[in-house]
Amino acid sequence: MRHVTLIQLFNHPITQKFVKRSGMAHAIACAFHAYKLSKKYNVNPDLATKAAFLHDIGHYTWYRNGKWDYDLYKQNDIHAIKGAERAHKLLIRLGEHPKSAKEIALAILLHTDSYLPQGELHLNPLQQVVALADEADEEPSGEHHYRTISDERARKMLAELDELVALALSQTT
Ligand SMILES: [Fe+2]
Repeated sequence: MRHVTLIQLFNHPITQKFVKRSGMAHAIACAFHAYKLSKKYNVNPDLATKAAFLHDIGHYTWYRNGKWDYDLYKQNDIHAIKGAERAHKLLIRLGEHPKSAKEIALAILLHTDSYLPQGELHLNPLQQVVALADEADEEPSGEHHYRTISDERARKMLAELDELVALALSQTT
């Protein structure tokens, strides 16, 4: 059973503020990638699409003199940590099941290893799907964060994805 839909997430002011900052078009593209990958990896499409949609919700802006400072970002970024916490709070507020909220938050925490000291992460299938979905939509030099999408188109695409997820879930239960 789904407790929270993508459209509900999209409509929330927290999502509007922080996912728009890191790129709504990227977030939606990743959610679609995650949906497709969830079939291949046999993971819950509801969790995968929501985690992928929210994976960059923790981004902070690293500007120096009006320009993005990549070095500053590289050194100080904790967007996956911040995002895991922010997404968890948002999901719980909207009525997500605590177990699902935790799984989604963990997948967000582990979608990148850019903030970790050298080492390798061992991801479970859901976490892998979210990391792969992000990679699938990445463009050189972080260009994917700047692609834009109208609210109208965003809503249309997310409503479509909500239907696909509901259908997929109804086929597995
Ligand atoms: Fe991303």
